[in-house]
Amino acid sequence: MTDKTVSLITGANKGIGYEIARRLGALGHCVLVGARDKKRGQTAVDQLKAGGVDAHLVILDVAYPPSVETTAMLIEQDYGRLDVLVNNAGLIHDRSLKPSNTPLDTIREVFEPNFFGLIGVTQAMLPMLRKSPAGRIVNMSSGLGSLTLQSDPNGPFADFKVLGYDCSKTAVNAVTVHFAYELRDTPIKVNSACPGWVKTDMGGPEAPGTAEQGADTPVWLATLPADGPTGGFFQDRKPLPW
Ligand SMILES: NC(=O)c1ccc[n+]([C@@H]2O[C@H](COP(=O)([O-])OP(=O)(O)OC[C@H]3O[C@@H](n4cnc5c(N)ncnc54)[C@H](OP(=O)(O)O)[C@@H]3O)[C@@H](O)[C@H]2O)c1
Repeated sequence: MTDKTVSLITGANKGIGYEIARRLGALGHCVLVGARDKKRGQTAVDQLKAGGVDAHLVILDVAYPPSVETTAMLIEQDYGRLDVLVNNAGLIHDRSLKPSNTPLDTIREVFEPNFFGLIGVTQAMLPMLRKSPAGRIVNMSSGLGSLTLQSDPNGPFADFKVLGYDCSKTAVNAVTVHFAYELRDTPIKVNSACPGWVKTDMGGPEAPGTAEQGADTPVWLATLPADGPTGGFFQDRKPLPW
């Protein structure tokens, strides 16, 4: 049990999720580092602790419902609360595939964590978030999920069409809108974040930004004041078109 703000970040053993954990830890949160692999997760927790973060490992495979259920039970039992959920875990598939030759199985594989897993984790954590005085849910999306940007022939993503991944992020934005509506009369705020194109295992070495920069908007959304926005989609703390 703790009196601190408790934040769960899924897929926090590396990349943007790790940076979000580090930043929220620096703000004094008790940080639950979600990782599907114990060893990778423990390494991240050890590094965060060495940097002064109150970090704890939570073994969580977002695409495996029993893991989600167990995690929710353990958080309730060990910490008695959850204030912030950052649905960060995600996968991309082979970018060279065209829509016409992307196997359905590949699309399903990406939708499992990015979409179904994100919904499952949100549903499982919601009873605790509802008890928080300032519950915050941040769904990691991508500009690639923006239909406005994707359909603009002169837009930044005109030549970047990764069917399964892009559609999973469009669907994540729809999830944000649906949960924000259901929770509109509660203190809980639900928003989508695009981190920008940043250097991680997913983003690749040629990305212009750093994981730390990518963490800025999700951390801002995770710590919004009571009069902050809900049901929105943001990059660099500014609205992105759906
Ligand atoms: N990097 C970019 O430029 C960029 C741009 C737009 C949006 N995003 C989004 O930002 C988020 C973080 O991306 P990133 O660049 O930091 O990627 P990353 O470095 O590849 O990290 C992805 C994280 O998700 C975890 N993960 C994947 N499947 C999981 C599952 N089933 N259960 C639990 N964890 C799982 C990975 O765990 P393992 O280490 O065990 O694989 C890893 O911790 C993703 O949602 C991504 O779509 C990234």
